[in-house]
Amino acid sequence: MKLKKIGVLTSGGDAPGMNACIRAVVRCGVKHKLEVIGIRRGYAGLLEGDLVRLDARAVANIIQRGGTILETARCEEMKTAEGLKKAVAILQQEGIEGLITIGGGGTFRGALALAGVGGIKIIGIPGTIDNDVYGIDYAIGFDTAINTALSAIDKIRDTAGSLQRPFFIEVMGRDRGFIALDVGIAGGAEDILIPETETKIEELCLDIKRSFERGKKCSIIVVAEGDEAGGVFPVAQQVWERLRLDYRVCVLGHIQRGGSPTARDRILASKLGAAAIDALANGKTGYMVGELKGKITFTPLRETWEKRKELDNNLLQLVKVLAT
Ligand code: F6P
Repeated sequence: MKLKKIGVLTSGGDAPGMNACIRAVVRCGVKHKLEVIGIRRGYAGLLEGDLVRLDARAVANIIQRGGTILETARCEEMKTAEGLKKAVAILQQEGIEGLITIGGGGTFRGALALAGVGGIKIIGIPGTIDNDVYGIDYAIGFDTAINTALSAIDKIRDTAGSLQRPFFIEVMGRDRGFIALDVGIAGGAEDILIPETETKIEELCLDIKRSFERGKKCSIIVVAEGDEAGGVFPVAQQVWERLRLDYRVCVLGHIQRGGSPTARDRILASKLGAAAIDALANGKTGYMVGELKGKITFTPLRETWEKRKELDNNLLQLVKVLAT
């Protein structure tokens, strides 16, 4: 049966490029003669019936904007049987037969719980700066986030070198080190500390000490927020106790989530929005649409969080080699 009305929502942490994705969903939906309903504040808004009709003009001038015009939320109620029942009832009452959910693992859990119940068709689109979703190379927002962090690190490097100080810079990523690894490589870090590898403070101290002995003027240490050391401050403190070197700490924080999306994120968001609409129109449900090695792929929703996305081990090995 041909779909007539679909919903789109963004959920969890916002990511730059989500707006470009909403725009693509709406405009490709229009092409397929679908009525597109925006659901505000993710699953929380769905449970309150906070809906808005989106036509092609409603998504004008948003491709360049960070955040999400639909706003977002983290919703505990959606994890309960009652919440789920309520969500299905609202979708049915509104005649919404298909749903596109843009977000990360948490978003897809909610999506899978809804898929198939009452005949609702669901397609997920990966949008998270953490890039920790299995089955894709890049999630929407990751490229912008790493470039934002990188531009901050480049600036820090200027002052770090001038005063010959080690800098400990904390980046986001929740419990994974994807942001830290890419930013560490691109920012010429001395070392990166990530949850995926054991943090050895003695080794780190030796690296920093030797780098200054080799005539380097600064040491940039990128620390993932989820590193086992418990964040950047304990790491810096432990290094100071051993080396007694004047140092500074910088937590990049939420600036990594904001800002105008890069071209790469806008293009990815546009492609995935279009592919999600095509998939729904062709009756597909229960999948995340993504891009892997340049090709559009469909990963069963459950695999997106149950299977572990691995870091690029070669890149990891390169950090130390390049820091010599
Ligand atoms: O998942 C995106 C993310 O920015 C993580 O990197 C970070 O740990 C978390 O969200 C921060 O969440 P909040 O904005 O709720 O503090």
